[in-house]
Amino acid sequence: MTDTVRIFDTTLRDGEQSPGASMNTAEKLDIARQLVRLGVDVIEAGFPISSPGDFESVRRVGEEVGDAAIVCALTRAVPKDIEVAAEALEGIARPRIHTGIGVSDNHLRHKFKISREEALERAEKAVRLARAHTDDVEFYAEDAGRADPAFLYRMLEVAIAAGATVVNIPDTTGYAYPEVFGALVAGVCENVAGIEDVTISVHCHNDLGMATANSLAAVKAGARQVECTINGIGERAGNTALEEVVMALRQRPDVFGVDTRINTREIVRASRLVSSITGILVQPNKSIVGANAFAHSSGIHQDGVLKERSTYEIIDPAEVGAGGSSIVLTARSGRHALRHRLEDLGYELPDDEFERVYDAFLDVADKKKEVYDEDLEAIVGESERTVDEVYHLAQVHVSCGDPGIPTATVELVSREGEHLIDSSHGNGPVDAVYNAINRIVAVPNDLTEFSVQSVTRGIDAMGEVTIRVRSEDGRVFTGRGAHPDIIVASAKAYTNALNRLLVSQKKADIEEL
Ligand code: KIV
Ligand code: ZN
Repeated sequence: MTDTVRIFDTTLRDGEQSPGASMNTAEKLDIARQLVRLGVDVIEAGFPISSPGDFESVRRVGEEVGDAAIVCALTRAVPKDIEVAAEALEGIARPRIHTGIGVSDNHLRHKFKISREEALERAEKAVRLARAHTDDVEFYAEDAGRADPAFLYRMLEVAIAAGATVVNIPDTTGYAYPEVFGALVAGVCENVAGIEDVTISVHCHNDLGMATANSLAAVKAGARQVECTINGIGERAGNTALEEVVMALRQRPDVFGVDTRINTREIVRASRLVSSITGILVQPNKSIVGANAFAHSSGIHQDGVLKERSTYEIIDPAEVGAGGSSIVLTARSGRHALRHRLEDLGYELPDDEFERVYDAFLDVADKKKEVYDEDLEAIVGESERTVDEVYHLAQVHVSCGDPGIPTATVELVSREGEHLIDSSHGNGPVDAVYNAINRIVAVPNDLTEFSVQSVTRGIDAMGEVTIRVRSEDGRVFTGRGAHPDIIVASAKAYTNALNRLLVSQKKADIEEL
């Protein structure tokens, strides 16, 4: 029987640490449902002590997932973190606490300012406390990729003796190379007492573009859990991409001799969902999930693929769910057909949200006649973005041209129901709209990125605008908006980004109290 490698997905935790990728609870639940359809073994749902929002997300994801996956909460080796994580996980079918501390001398000296002996003591106490709350405790030795292997072995031994059931060897800074990282894991297998009774996990970052290669080298050396994110999003250059590890193991049993439980046909859908929710676009040449991953442009290649697909394709696109569906909805499709299609796409919406989506669907169907899956994803995303709204865009009107002074009037409705109208001019229609919104919202920010993409093909396609704004304290917020009119989509995206900024300021104020 083929040995199984567990897939630990941290899109909702490390993935959310990508600048501008913060998600609201409804968005996290959509991703969690898709992770269940993918068949991941573990979902790291958040870091409960970090904010009330993260606490709530862990709890809600746990309720949603039931026993379909282990739901994991991150903590530092700090008693209060562990108590709060245990509280967030209470009542969840398969809870896991993920606790740990730095193991490299760099982290101990500069970050923790403690000795190796003190680090061992904290590690032991943290694991014992976590075990008092749950039987499933994963211990991470942060920055293991730069640590003294002999000290790493000692720390893992202490964690195992204290009750850890999984030990995680993170290459936190993406410093390792496949040979070196594989050797480190082999060293752990040989030198750590009790290692045969626990699962070895690896958690690699992609600073040198080695995250997938390092994770695979670790699997060859004995790791049986890989931590990864959809599309490889995550802190700095990101984490190991789930789709890359899974497909490498599936494609090359001759090399690895192990497999995962992942339903690979859900990969592209997961990729699109995460990209749509976080606003982090997938580069076209990205392996497995990029728009060009199965596109053949040279005549020689096209000829080869037409004769026999395997000449230039090592993966059948259908195996990862690429290729798209041919279902097209129209204004006459009706509620039942829409709900059915949304469920196929992975969206189970409560009745009130479904009605909002249905109205928006009719609006889009009126304008563009045929509504594709990508349009539906944009419409649902649009509806979910309204969950935490401080301001709702009621209407926008622009006048522009050459010659002419681009001028915009916008109406926003505040959460309290106040209707606020203002106008402004600008360098162009979008600038004018943003100036008008700024006059109402009056929160200092810099617009650092603006991009517009069409969701589907054709002149009547929906436009999806993604923007990033930087707040005064340097934090980045992503905003997205979709509409057949790209000026309206731009206004929605900006309002969405400012809403996220305002909500996060409110949370920070609450935490300071
Ligand atoms: O990169 C890292 O070391 C982490 C740990 C918290 C597992 O994200
Ligand atoms: Zn990480």
